[in-house]
Amino acid sequence: MKAAVVGTGSWGKHHLRVLNDLGYLDSFVEMNDERRKLYEKKYSIKGFSNINDLIKDHHVDIVNICTPTITHFEIAKTTLSNGISTLVEKPLTYSSSQGEELVNLAHDNNAALTVGFVERFNPVIIDIKNNLQKQTYGDPLLIEFQRENRWAGVTKDIGVILDSSVHDIDGARWLFNEEPNVVFARTGNVLNPKASGFVGTDYEDFATIVLGFKNGKTAIIIANWVTPYKVRRISVTCTDGNLSGDYMSQEIRLDDGNSVTIPTRKHEEPLVNELTSFINAVKSNSSPVVTGIDGLNTIKIAEAAITSAKRGSPIYLDL
Ligand SMILES: NC(=O)c1ccc[n+]([C@@H]2O[C@H](COP(=O)([O-])OP(=O)(O)OC[C@H]3O[C@@H](n4cnc5c(N)ncnc54)[C@H](O)[C@@H]3O)[C@@H](O)[C@H]2O)c1
Repeated sequence: MKAAVVGTGSWGKHHLRVLNDLGYLDSFVEMNDERRKLYEKKYSIKGFSNINDLIKDHHVDIVNICTPTITHFEIAKTTLSNGISTLVEKPLTYSSSQGEELVNLAHDNNAALTVGFVERFNPVIIDIKNNLQKQTYGDPLLIEFQRENRWAGVTKDIGVILDSSVHDIDGARWLFNEEPNVVFARTGNVLNPKASGFVGTDYEDFATIVLGFKNGKTAIIIANWVTPYKVRRISVTCTDGNLSGDYMSQEIRLDDGNSVTIPTRKHEEPLVNELTSFINAVKSNSSPVVTGIDGLNTIKIAEAAITSAKRGSPIYLDL
C-alpha cells in the first residue's frame, strides 16, 4: 500500500510525518519549490509540482489532499477518476454540488473517499459515543461545542463555518446518529480589513449555529477566530447525566448527578488513528469510518447555516 500527500503546508506536513512513521509514504505533490525541496530531502522521496505528474510517474493507492479548500475539487476529481482512494481534508469541497460530483466519481471508479474529520478519531468523542451507545447516562438531548481561537492567518478561502464548524456539524450528526432537520445561525466578521482595519479573512469569523434534530434534540455549535486563546470543548446533556470533554487535553468528565468520573488514559494522536483507519479500510475494501456522504451532508448543513445567517431565518432540511 503506497500513499502520497498533496499540499505540505501547516497541516499537510503532519500527514507526511504520520504516513512516513506508519511506513506508507511514497511521494508527494507541492507547488512551492522551496517546500518541495525541503521534504524531498527530509524523507528521501520524490516530490512533484502537480498531481498529474505524480500519477504519470508513480503508482499510488492512496492520496491525501491537504491543499486549500478551493483546490480540493479539481485535485480529487483527478485522483478519483484514476481510481485512487482519496482522503480530502475538511471541508470536502467548497460547495455541495462539487461534493456530490466527487461522491459519484468515487462510486463510479470504485475508489474509497473519506474526509479529514480528525476529531472523529479523538478518544474524547469516541468515549462519548461509546457511552451514548450503551445509554450509560440515558439519551442525549443537547450537545454544545466550542471551537475558538484567534485567526492564525492561514485560511483565506473560506470562513469559520466551512473551516472549523464542519468538525462539530459532523460530530453532532454522528453522536445523535441522524441528520438535523433545521438550521439557524448567526455570524459576523470583525477581522475583515474592510470592516475593521485588521488584516484578515473576507468571510465570517464568528458563528453560532443551532441544529435541530428529532424530538427537540439540539446541537449548539460555537466557533470563532476571535477568542485570544484556544478552546476545543464538548458537553453532552443526557436524560441521566452529563458527559463533557476537552479535545486538547483529551480529558473526559462523566457526571451522573451523584458522582463524577474522570477516566485516565494515554494521550493519542487523532491523525495517526485517522490515517491508520483509512489505510485499513482501503486494504480490506471496506467503507471508511468517515464516508463521502458524511462530508457532503456536512457541507449541505454548513451552506444552510451560512444562508440562515444571511437571511436571519431558519432553514429546513431534508437530508
Ligand atoms: N483536519 C484538521 O484538523 C485540519 C487542520 C488544519 C488544516 N486542515 C485542512 O488542510 C488543508 C490545508 O490547510 P493548511 O492549513 O495546511 O494550508 P496551507 O496554506 O498551510 O498549505 C497548503 C499547501 O498546499 C500547497 N498547494 C496549494 N495548491 C496546490 C496544488 N494545486 N498542488 C500542490 N500543492 C498545492 C501550498 O503551496 C501549501 O504548501 C485545508 O483543507 C484545511 O482545511 C485540516
